[in-house]
Amino acid sequence: MSNEQKITTEIKVPNKDLETLKIHFPHCFDKDGNFQFEKFKNNLTEKEINFSTESYGLDWLGKSYARLLASDPATTLLKADETHNAKPENNNSENLLIKGDNLEVLKHLANAYYEQVKMIYIDPPYNTGSDGFTYQDDRKFTVKELQQLIGVDAEKAKRILDFTQSKSNSHSAWLTFMYPRLYIAKQLLKDEGVIYVSIDDSEVSQLKMLLDEIFGEENFRGIIIRATGTTTGQEALKIGSSYDSCLCYSKTAKFQLKGIPLKGKDLNRFNNDDNDGKGKYALLQLRKTGNADRKEDREGMFFPITAPDGSQVFPIGPTDYLSRWRTGKDKFQKFLDEGLIVWKENGEDIEEFDDDEDENEEDEITDYSSVTNENVDISKFKSKWKPYVKYYLSERTKQVSNLWTDIDGNKKGSIELKLLFEKKKLFENPKPTDFLKRLITISCSSDELILDFFAGSGTTADAVLNMNSDDLTNRKFILVQIPELIDPKKSKTTYTYVKNDLGIEVPTIFDVTKERVIRAARKIKTEKTEYDGDLGFKIFETTPIWEDYNFEAEQFDSSQTLFDVGKLTEDDIKALLTTWKTYDGIALTQDLESIDLSGYTAYYGNGRLYLMHKGFTTDSLKTLLEKIDTDKHFEPKSIIAFGYHLESKSLREISENVKTYNNKKKSDIDFITRY
Ligand SMILES: C[S@@+](CC[C@H](N)C(=O)[O-])C[C@H]1O[C@@H](n2cnc3c(N)ncnc32)[C@H](O)[C@@H]1O
Repeated sequence: MSNEQKITTEIKVPNKDLETLKIHFPHCFDKDGNFQFEKFKNNLTEKEINFSTESYGLDWLGKSYARLLASDPATTLLKADETHNAKPENNNSENLLIKGDNLEVLKHLANAYYEQVKMIYIDPPYNTGSDGFTYQDDRKFTVKELQQLIGVDAEKAKRILDFTQSKSNSHSAWLTFMYPRLYIAKQLLKDEGVIYVSIDDSEVSQLKMLLDEIFGEENFRGIIIRATGTTTGQEALKIGSSYDSCLCYSKTAKFQLKGIPLKGKDLNRFNNDDNDGKGKYALLQLRKTGNADRKEDREGMFFPITAPDGSQVFPIGPTDYLSRWRTGKDKFQKFLDEGLIVWKENGEDIEEFDDDEDENEEDEITDYSSVTNENVDISKFKSKWKPYVKYYLSERTKQVSNLWTDIDGNKKGSIELKLLFEKKKLFENPKPTDFLKRLITISCSSDELILDFFAGSGTTADAVLNMNSDDLTNRKFILVQIPELIDPKKSKTTYTYVKNDLGIEVPTIFDVTKERVIRAARKIKTEKTEYDGDLGFKIFETTPIWEDYNFEAEQFDSSQTLFDVGKLTEDDIKALLTTWKTYDGIALTQDLESIDLSGYTAYYGNGRLYLMHKGFTTDSLKTLLEKIDTDKHFEPKSIIAFGYHLESKSLREISENVKTYNNKKKSDIDFITRY
């Protein structure tokens, strides 16, 4: 019979760490798949590996529960907003806005977007005490169940359940909320990827330690201090705050920060222009100036070069010492070939700038190792000629520091949003788009994927769309926002706007997010009529798995389930298909192809064929096998059937025929029945 799966228990984050261990240390697992740590330890013969018995780390009430949340299966399905997605601007879009609790959504994304994301930005609840953060959890465990699941005693299990069910906002509650989300988020990042998390002083210490634990202290890249432009909380007992923090961690050492364009006084030295279309440039001495400018600092960068009159020129420092060039021989030759070297004779008027810039290269062997600053007759090395290099402004950038005071603060964020919404204030403290733009500039190249799973008013999407239309690139975004109810008393303007202007019966923050992205895109379209980049986005949302469906069974037996399959609508089947394809690694923005099998419609994509509907016949099977045999573009690696919708006779028939086909054709098609 076919491989059977109860798919709802499978939608969870794959444990790749364990997989890696299994690949490299198979002998450290027993027959039941248990990892034998002692065996592993004994196998490590390298002397330099020390197992420390003392450790330092972060602990809180609920940590083991938070781990459970990260590995527990999703309790929802994913469903497309077909009306929105069918609109011409969204139809082919690769951007996504997903409505739902981000923990559920991240679990759904864990396979299809595994190691796909270049940058994550999140701006989670700061837990200031007044920002409304409280821990919410629909999971209903009994003390006994929890004890068993996370291995704690009854008293601890009770304390954990108390806070998970009592709308707590303690540090423990906040950490329990953040841990599983960050843990899964890490799986989505590429090795070259990076995460930024905004926070203020309320949870900054907890967050730093949490990120150290999840991402590793060696991947900490810094804390950006962003001036917010306003000061809050100035009291006799407390220092007011005029900044927030943004913690930056890379997934691995492969992430490299990019520079930002120069501005302000940095532009002063770019005052030359050959009017050849290459723009402004600065002339920098080829001799290294500033720090580490002596011959002995980089022996390989001391060599003679030929001046326009044929004489040999060496790098000599201003107080008559042997200095060095900025480059080795190869890079110098490249500069020469590209016409970037300019010669000046002594006395020629040129403004000089000190510059620490170095062209990083390996040192080469030189013929001048015996000449040193101690034994040199400097007069033999001096020349009237000085070489300079053209540094074009368009190619120069500057690495960022951790103090960002030059970006307009929170007021700017609010003004931007109000401008999009006819001056209505619909969201408290949205981040300014310039902040997101700078994070994107230092992290991403042209067409990478950016994820924000605390989307709020959708600033990240606005920044991505605007940057793409400015530099004609194709970065993509995934935004996640929970349909948090808008309180008509606390946020009257927002509530009234969403209800009356957008016509939404039960107004939520998600409706604001969606409308902001639509409006930001529309503004770009109006201002840049020629622009034809991706200004759309597709919407998906989580929806609870059907009642009765989520039963637990040791051994699945479809005939004994209480689930009434007759209740399922066409929309339910579509949601199941969307959920399964995402689970199987197919991007949400990728549509499946409909395949006609003698009047039966199957769905195909990325080597997977889905048989979701009733009515699969022997003829369908015949057509299917023929198609596999004859159509070069149709190569299913797995055939996945919805077990409730295919008769057991059909399932058996498919299974047997696929097996025979595999044997005959030496192919390896998998047949899976899912319930
Ligand atoms: C501080 S705001 C983000 C603001 C955003 N950076 C901006 O510029 O507009 C945090 C957002 O996360 C949302 N949120 C909170 N918990 C969530 C969850 N579990 N899943 C998804 N979104 C959540 C809140 O509704 C809120 O809109």
